[in-house]
Amino acid sequence: MGFSLKCIECHSTESEQAYTCSKCKGLLEVLYDKEAFSSYELAQKPGIWKYSKLFPCGGIAITLHEGNTPLYHINNLFSGMGIHVKFEGLNPTGSFKDRGMAVGMSKAIEFGFKKVVCASTGNTSASMAAYAAKAGVMPFVYVPKGKIALPKLAQALVYGAKIVQTEGTFDDALRKVFGSTKPDTYILNSINPYRPEGQKTLAFELSEQLEESGGVDTVVVPVGNAANISAIWKGFKEYKQLGLVKKLPRMIGVQAAGANPVYKAFLSGKFEPVANPDTIASAIRIGNPVSHVKAIAAAKESKGFITQVSDAELLNALAALAKHEGVFCEPASATTVAAVARMVQNNEIAKDDNVVCVLTGNGLKDPETAAKAATH
Ligand code: F0G
Repeated sequence: MGFSLKCIECHSTESEQAYTCSKCKGLLEVLYDKEAFSSYELAQKPGIWKYSKLFPCGGIAITLHEGNTPLYHINNLFSGMGIHVKFEGLNPTGSFKDRGMAVGMSKAIEFGFKKVVCASTGNTSASMAAYAAKAGVMPFVYVPKGKIALPKLAQALVYGAKIVQTEGTFDDALRKVFGSTKPDTYILNSINPYRPEGQKTLAFELSEQLEESGGVDTVVVPVGNAANISAIWKGFKEYKQLGLVKKLPRMIGVQAAGANPVYKAFLSGKFEPVANPDTIASAIRIGNPVSHVKAIAAAKESKGFITQVSDAELLNALAALAKHEGVFCEPASATTVAAVARMVQNNEIAKDDNVVCVLTGNGLKDPETAAKAATH
């Protein structure tokens, strides 16, 4: 596992424990050397660790058996089409965050940290707290007061996290984390360059799950702090480099209309934060996403795009998916199905395209909003 941490802007190499580039503050990414690719093979391990030959980890693996989630063909809602959902809500803490957290926590332990911290709209904190419990280190989480779904807060508490409720938005909470974290504590927000390495495994799984039906054509991902879409894109590019897939899918990012800075930047070419993000999908109620540059690059490179949906559209999609397909996801995840429903209506999806909506979180994460969706 030869790798280096490189700045995506100025391409300089950073030290292993850096979060951003020390020269230009750019985002970092893990790049593997040629040997890692030439010696690639699947490992006899559960979940994401099957792909651990393309992880930046030494011998340590903190795991709760994350990954290996089901792919459902959504043929009641969209008959005669190749539309699927990848149900990440079946991960150990109920969201896709577990893939990246397993790798991030393994690095924290490898580096010798005894304390870990994150800011969160709920899922990252629940996931980090669980993996910290497994690893035997102390989790600290910063959440915007009154703005995260109660079950997520309960998860973080029961896994033993110390919770700091901050005034303002998620963006304010994240600023606090970066402003006040001491060097003895490892930051596990998605700006951490190792977390996306776990999250990219979703691309590997999808490639295998759709291999026999022609491969993946389109992947639709909710965009909040904007890390996951580029992590998944990185996975597809690595699988292509390995010769394990022939084609690359287009990546479509979906934002909530009230928290849409990445959508606006995609259209205008200029990023401006949204000061007071507002959407019922609390997981992606983010005005100043740290990884926006990576997200826009993933959409552009893959010939995809970033779009937005209203709260009414996402609530309808959440309810329809549950009622007609038996799949219950959280509001942020339903943005993907809402976007696809609109594209189907506008004849923007070919009948034989394999489209995958990434359902990032479980519906039980936010039952209050689900009840609203059911009676909407
Ligand atoms: N879907 C869910 C359910 C999420 O919890 C998040 C992010 C996203 C989508 C967006 O992913 O940030 O990589 O673009 N939740 C973070 C958290 C911010 O703190 O749990 P992204």
